[in-house]
Amino acid sequence: MPSPSLSRRDLLKVSVLGTAALALPWQGVLSGKSASRIASSKLPRPYSVPFAVPPVLAPVRSDATTDYYQLTQKAFVGELLPGVRTPLWGYNGLVPGPTIRARAGRQTVMRQINALPATHPTLGYVPWTSTHLHGMPSKPQYDGYAGDNSMPGQWKDYVYPNSCSARTLWYHDHGVHHTAENVYMGLAAQYQLTDAIEESLPIPHGRYDVPLIIGDVAFAADGSLLWDDNTHSGSYGDVILVNGRPWPTMAVEQRRYRFRVLNASIARGYRLALSNGQPFHVIATDGGFMAQPQQVTELIVGMAERYEIVVDFTALPVGQSIQLVNRGVKNAVDYDHTGKVLQFRASGPATDTSGNSVPAVLTTPHEAMTLTPAMARATKKMRLKRDADIWTINGETWSDVERSDYERVFSHPDVGDVELWEIENSSGGWFHPLHVHLVDFQVLTRNGRPARAQERGPKDVVYIGEGETVRILMRFGPEHGRYMIHCHNLSHEDHDMMTQFQVGVHDADCDPRLAAPPAYGTPPAL
Ligand code: C2O
Ligand code: CU
Ligand code: CU
Repeated sequence: MPSPSLSRRDLLKVSVLGTAALALPWQGVLSGKSASRIASSKLPRPYSVPFAVPPVLAPVRSDATTDYYQLTQKAFVGELLPGVRTPLWGYNGLVPGPTIRARAGRQTVMRQINALPATHPTLGYVPWTSTHLHGMPSKPQYDGYAGDNSMPGQWKDYVYPNSCSARTLWYHDHGVHHTAENVYMGLAAQYQLTDAIEESLPIPHGRYDVPLIIGDVAFAADGSLLWDDNTHSGSYGDVILVNGRPWPTMAVEQRRYRFRVLNASIARGYRLALSNGQPFHVIATDGGFMAQPQQVTELIVGMAERYEIVVDFTALPVGQSIQLVNRGVKNAVDYDHTGKVLQFRASGPATDTSGNSVPAVLTTPHEAMTLTPAMARATKKMRLKRDADIWTINGETWSDVERSDYERVFSHPDVGDVELWEIENSSGGWFHPLHVHLVDFQVLTRNGRPARAQERGPKDVVYIGEGETVRILMRFGPEHGRYMIHCHNLSHEDHDMMTQFQVGVHDADCDPRLAAPPAYGTPPAL
């Protein structure tokens, strides 16, 4: 593998200028290869900004069964770059939004109030929103269905059953045709579900259990976010954000940490590694814990994928640093500093050594991982393809679903049925992280070979690379009704690489547009 983090330009720079380049002021080494139009002096030197995590949101109220949260989607002026004012949209005026921590067995009610302006400040569209809790088997009317839109001034209560195993989820906007811009403006956040198994594992918890929400953005000259999705191919920023901070540095104690990695980028895939080549463990995938942790030296993370990893800083000398770097994936546009993500600096010995291990067995295998092809009631083929300017699934788009009055489905299993889907991307020009709502699936094979080590856990997004064919296996349920399937390159999703499947009957109770419609006006107290 070549190392895209050191580009040909960088090599030239090093060889021509030698060590002198390192002594130049920051502006002197920042090249023209950037997406941002803002003066380069406004960008911080990578690893100069302190790391931070989003706040955990407290419920407005709790009763015997349910925790109630209120979130307002609103415009505000934030500071992603030190000293630069950037208009953003955030849940409760935060980018990323506040983390929600939920416990299996208790229900969450999340009120979402769309208080966004009537139109996007530069793009001019009307910001209708639809909130999706990605990773939760929610009922269709609470799943952020494209067609269940809240207009500015509307609100809706979403009910989440927390009926699945512990995992890292995220909530993000899913407004049809503008998901990419809405998420880019900041409408994304983590949701962490815990259960008795998660709590009892001797893995890092508490302050050693840290969200890493990774994204990329570009800035216009005036400090606003610059939007260019290259005719719906994808938007690639030159500034990497971790939890909303550009290339931050995190102080770590000499012990193990657990990181909940979420790729919240619109179009950028990452190949993450530690700068010293040190291996680390993957302990959980999208749908929760793997049965056995997998040791890796690289982690490929497509958009919307979540991986929980454990990194050991025990041997990192106090005052020394290592970096989490991005070695790049094919067909993501790299800029001078998109190979950098986050720096860790050892601050001192561990102040608490509890939960400082990675057990050889984490849990019994998730049900999806026990499925076998022989159990499949049907095998379906799915071709991901660009037709002219439109992204399609088997030649169809979400417009075809809309034209059918939302009747058209890619597949129609009953509750409890198992299906095998073979997903093919014959292009060499792009990759597609394919997401199936409602279910957790097993990655059965990748190009006829076993899944990657990092994929040996339950998934809900799978990276379909250039020229690849991937087979997945899943059981449908527990809910019935209609759910979306789409590429999580959000520009592809919006234009219009999305379809749906139906589980069992589609009755009035599970019509995502009619069963729990959003309302105008002042909501009653929660
Ligand atoms: Cu994370 Cu349908 O999306
Ligand atoms: Cu989802
Ligand atoms: Cu795609």
